[in-house]
Amino acid sequence: MSVIAKQPKASIIEKYAQHVSSGKVEFFTQAGIDFVTGKRAGIYIRDLEGKQLINCHCNGGVFNLGHRNPRVIKALMLALEDLDIGNHHLISEGRTLLAERLVNISPGDINRVIFGVSGGEAIDMAIKLARAHTGRVNVISALGGYHGHTGLALAAGDEQYRKPFGPLSPGFIQVPFGDLEALEAAMDENTAAVIFETIPATLGITIPPDDFFAGVRELCNRFDAVMIQDEVQTGLGRCGAIWGIDTYGVVPDIIVTGKGLSGGIYPISATLYREHLNPFMHANPFIHISTFGGAEVGCYAALEVLDILDEPGFLENVIEVAAIFEQGFTELCKKHPVVMVEARQRGLMMGPKLISPQCGPLITRIGFDAGLLVIYGNNDPSAVQILPPLIIEEAEARQVLSFLDGMLSTLEIMIS
Ligand SMILES: Cc1ncc(COP(=O)(O)O)c(C=O)c1O
Repeated sequence: MSVIAKQPKASIIEKYAQHVSSGKVEFFTQAGIDFVTGKRAGIYIRDLEGKQLINCHCNGGVFNLGHRNPRVIKALMLALEDLDIGNHHLISEGRTLLAERLVNISPGDINRVIFGVSGGEAIDMAIKLARAHTGRVNVISALGGYHGHTGLALAAGDEQYRKPFGPLSPGFIQVPFGDLEALEAAMDENTAAVIFETIPATLGITIPPDDFFAGVRELCNRFDAVMIQDEVQTGLGRCGAIWGIDTYGVVPDIIVTGKGLSGGIYPISATLYREHLNPFMHANPFIHISTFGGAEVGCYAALEVLDILDEPGFLENVIEVAAIFEQGFTELCKKHPVVMVEARQRGLMMGPKLISPQCGPLITRIGFDAGLLVIYGNNDPSAVQILPPLIIEEAEARQVLSFLDGMLSTLEIMIS
């Protein structure tokens, strides 16, 4: 017996508006997006009434392994036979094994892990650690960047999400992403940390200059600041390597991961850090508490995620399918020059840039009607975020490109 579709769709929407979010219901109604999530599997999600979409948003990578990956579900079920969430104060096998695996796939001497539940929480932890380690306050991040909605993560993100909430933690400075000169000018002996997404998704999949992160590393070394890499979206294979920052050949001091680590099945996030940051945590082992962070059953789901990521052929598939998209985007740019101006891409982190900010919301709606879930970048609505599941196959990628071709044609007519 299924737990879903126990009530008519219209009644769910009405009650959702009453008890969860009247604003969201109004927004989706006005946007003409009439969708209540129902069954899902692999690259597809369905509406309660059966409308099917290819998920090319994947909640920023949560569904890297597709929806309801059977291996991750099995790992969780097996763990549930003996375990529960566990007690985060105590030593546990699950956390130990997962930490060991995470550091083994991380660059340089990153060898320690603090577990959390969400990406924002793990970002907060990274900033806390950087401040405690350096004894300094200032944190530099990107204008238009996005790190989540918890306290310090919110302070590091775009103004629009924090403005209504009054004064946040002091010491946050923002510079244009990819601009080393601006970064250098902002850094001094008060800089605790520099935090960037490897490729800012909400800013419209902005690809930094090739030497940017080597420059960030050099500046952090020069000013003795902690380099924090937000890999919540770009990590775990998305860019064709384990970590997006690996594709730039740079070792940060802290890597933050979340989203895809859950396998889309059990929430978990992690702050991975280098050994030289450990003295503070060693002296203060109970200073950061997260009741559900690194829940034991979730560790086994995440271990399965890492097993899949590690298998021969997994990253190769990402690279091969990315090449198909690259070629397809080049063709789409030629075919639709009136609406598509640029194809931003690193692996399967992709963001075609359209001619104007109106185009992102329009193409999101057109995609919904056509059967493709894509979402524009909130901090740059002219870019469309395209993040298919990493398990997508060649034929499915070609299908997505053909959807996009049709969607761009519709967009051309709409804006002409
Ligand atoms: C780059 C990045 N960092 C951090 C976060 C925050 O993650 P969470 O929503 O799990 O708190 C997100 C969420 O979208 C994100 O995209």
